[in-house]
Amino acid sequence: MPEGSSRLTDKVVMVTGATGGIGVDIVARLAAEGASVVATDLDADACREMVGRVDRPDVHLAVGQDITDEDRWADVLRIVEDRYGTLDAVVNNGAIGSLAGVVDESAEQFRRVVEVSQTGTWLGMKHAGALIERTGGGSVVNICSILGTVGGLGNSIAYAAAKGAVRTMTKNAALHWAQRGVRVNSVHPGFIATAPLLARYEGSPRHAAMVAGTPMGRLGTGVEVAAAVAFLAGDDSRFVTGTELYVDGGWTAA
Ligand SMILES: NC(=O)c1ccc[n+]([C@@H]2O[C@H](COP(=O)([O-])OP(=O)(O)OC[C@H]3O[C@@H](n4cnc5c(N)ncnc54)[C@H](O)[C@@H]3O)[C@@H](O)[C@H]2O)c1
Repeated sequence: MPEGSSRLTDKVVMVTGATGGIGVDIVARLAAEGASVVATDLDADACREMVGRVDRPDVHLAVGQDITDEDRWADVLRIVEDRYGTLDAVVNNGAIGSLAGVVDESAEQFRRVVEVSQTGTWLGMKHAGALIERTGGGSVVNICSILGTVGGLGNSIAYAAAKGAVRTMTKNAALHWAQRGVRVNSVHPGFIATAPLLARYEGSPRHAAMVAGTPMGRLGTGVEVAAAVAFLAGDDSRFVTGTELYVDGGWTAA
């Protein structure tokens, strides 16, 4: 699908964690396919700055949002409904991780990772999914991870807990909405070469392990994740629900 096609014309799509490494590529792809994008992240100014750089900046909305704050979800969706009158899709992309393994992780950090990456995603399904249902149906896309399914490099226990829950919550919610016009799917990136990730690990043994464990022999890109999101957000995937789409260079096939 060439960028700049009109597959998402007239769709209003919300993206959380929109100014992060993969978020910016998701927003750019959705905008290039014709969507009006509601870009939210912790820093409202960063959202505004980012939206100003994508196609047709005037049709998009940039909003500051902490996805763990349930009251803020209600506020943001009120703003969305006032501006557009509808919501067609939400991409629950905002998350945090922790590298610590099963023995090294602290209870405090474990709870925080679950709060943002698991509970934040559930709140997104609950509130944005309800608006999507009420305004004519559409799609929920939860950004999960290969660590929602397999053990990866044997670290990141809290992140694995949260993403495992995102994977199963996706299927649970898909069944809830199966006959009510809302589809729910998860996208599972492998190791993706976002700028923040590379800045931290390039040249390190961890980076080498991520590449070595990927059958295609390289890290993925945010653009490649965004292409999967665009498919699931729009009507091309109208008979797809409760499924998991891996963008992992073959990691989970090995
Ligand atoms: N980069 C990878 O290799 C990789 C691999 C698998 C899955 N993922 C998933 O892809 C998604 C995007 O990851 P990324 O690499 O762009 O990470 P990132 O850290 O660059 O971006 C995450 C964004 O979420 C935002 N965020 C954090 N806490 C928040 C909160 N409480 N409320 C609202 N926003 C919050 C951050 O501000 C940030 O902009 C995440 O769900 C991540 O788990 C990434």
